[in-house]
Amino acid sequence: MSASQNELVYNPYAFALHDDPYATYQRLRDEAPAYWNPDLEFWVLSRFDDVLQAFRDFETFSSAGGVALENRRPIGQVSPENQQMIELDPPDHTHFRKLVSRVFTGRRVAEMEDDIRSIVDRYIDNVIEVGTADLVTDITGPFPMDVISALLGVPAEDRDALRYEADRLLVREDGSMDLPAEAIEGFFGLLNYFIADLKTRTPGDGRGLISDLLALEVDGRALSEPELLGFCTLFVIAGHETTTKMVANTIELLSRHPDQRSQVVADPTVAPAVIEEVLRFHNSTQYMHRTLTRDIEMHGQQMHEGDSVVLLIGAANHDPDEFGATAGVFDIGRRPERHLGFGYGAHFCLGAALARMEGRIAIEQIHRRLGDYQVDHDAKVRFHSGNVTGWESLPITFTPGQKLSDTTNQRGSTPS
Ligand code: HEM
Repeated sequence: MSASQNELVYNPYAFALHDDPYATYQRLRDEAPAYWNPDLEFWVLSRFDDVLQAFRDFETFSSAGGVALENRRPIGQVSPENQQMIELDPPDHTHFRKLVSRVFTGRRVAEMEDDIRSIVDRYIDNVIEVGTADLVTDITGPFPMDVISALLGVPAEDRDALRYEADRLLVREDGSMDLPAEAIEGFFGLLNYFIADLKTRTPGDGRGLISDLLALEVDGRALSEPELLGFCTLFVIAGHETTTKMVANTIELLSRHPDQRSQVVADPTVAPAVIEEVLRFHNSTQYMHRTLTRDIEMHGQQMHEGDSVVLLIGAANHDPDEFGATAGVFDIGRRPERHLGFGYGAHFCLGAALARMEGRIAIEQIHRRLGDYQVDHDAKVRFHSGNVTGWESLPITFTPGQKLSDTTNQRGSTPS
C-alpha cells in the first residue's frame, strides 16, 4: 500500500502491492466491497458473489469498453485494424466465438498432448545435465508460445520474436496506468507480424487454426480482416502470458510448501488438482475490466453509466464466504467446486482446457525429472504488470539427470 497504514488504497500498478496483494484484497472485501479509486477513477468489486454476478451480467457490465483498465475507452469505440472477441458483448461476441469454436475444438486440444509433452521435455533436456536453470527463461517462459504457435501455424523460426513482442506488451511502470512506449511497440510488433502473415496464407491451406478460420463461414458470414487480426493477437497474448506465469507461480508456491511438493513428486498425477488450486489461490490473471452501461447502486455506492469497474478475480478467489475459513491457505487437496480463475459466463476462457493440459504436463514432467528443485528465493525477480502476476526470473538448482533425447530420437523436434 502506498498510503498511510489506515487508508485503504488499491492501485493494481503499484509494484509494492504485487508481492502480497491479499491483505489489501481482504480489506477491500471487508471494508469497501464497492471501492472507488479517486486518482485512477475506477470501481473495484472484490467479493466472490459480486464478481461472479458481474461476469454473468454482460448487459450491465460491458466488455466493449476494453477488458484491461489501461486500454479502457468509451463503449463502441472500436479499433479499425484489430477487433478481439474478448472486447465484444453478445450478440456480436456470440457469433465470433461460435466461429472460432468451430476450429479450436476440444478434440484439437486433446490431440496436442504428445506434442506438448515433447516440447516441455525438450526444454528440460536443455538444462537437466547442468543441475541449474532459470525456470522462467529456460522452461516455463518459452514452452507455451511453442504450443500456441504450433496450433495457430506460426513457423518455429518466428516464435522467439513473437514472444519478445508479447512480453514487451505487458510491461508497465510502477504505479502508473499509462501504457509505456515499450508496450505499444510490443502490440504493433505482434499486429504487423500477423498483417504480413495473413498475406502468405490461403484459406484451408492446412497451416493451422489461422488458415482454417480463413476458410470458415457461419450463417453466411466469415471473419473480417480486423477480426482475424484480433483473433491472432488475442490467442498469442492469452495463450502465452497467462500459462507461462501460471506454471512458474506453481513451482514458486510448491517450493514454499515442501510437504505438498513431496506429494506431487511421489505422485505427479495429482498435477490437475495442483493447477486448479493455483488458479484459485494465486491466479496469473488478477482482474478483468468492465464498463457500466447504466447507473446502478451496490453496497450503498452510486455507480454511473460509463464508469470503469475492476472485477477482482484474485480477491474473489480468496473470499471466505465461498471457500470457507481456510480461503487464504494454499492447499492442493482443496479441490474447489468452482473458482473464477478463468472468468465466468459468456467470456469464460476459451483456452481453459489447453491451459489446464499445458499446466498438468509441465507440472508432471518437472516433478518427474527435476523433482528435488530448490528455488533461490533471494535471487528471484518478480514480473510487474497490471493484471498479470508472475516471475521474470526463478533460479533453481536440482540433481542433474539424463536427457530424454539421448534415448528417443523423436524428442527434441519442434512440432510445426
Ligand atoms: C492459466 C492460463 C489462463 C488464464 C488464467 C486465463 C484467464 C482468462 C480469463 C479470466 C478470461 C475471461 C476474460 C473476460 O471475462 O473478460 C479469459 C478469456 C479468454 N482466454 Fe484465457 N486464460 C488462460 C489461458 C488461455 C489460453 C492458453 C488461451 C488460448 C488458447 C486463452 C484464450 C482465451 C480467449 C480467446 C479468451 C476470450 C474468450 C471470449 O471472449 O469469449 N486463454 N482467459
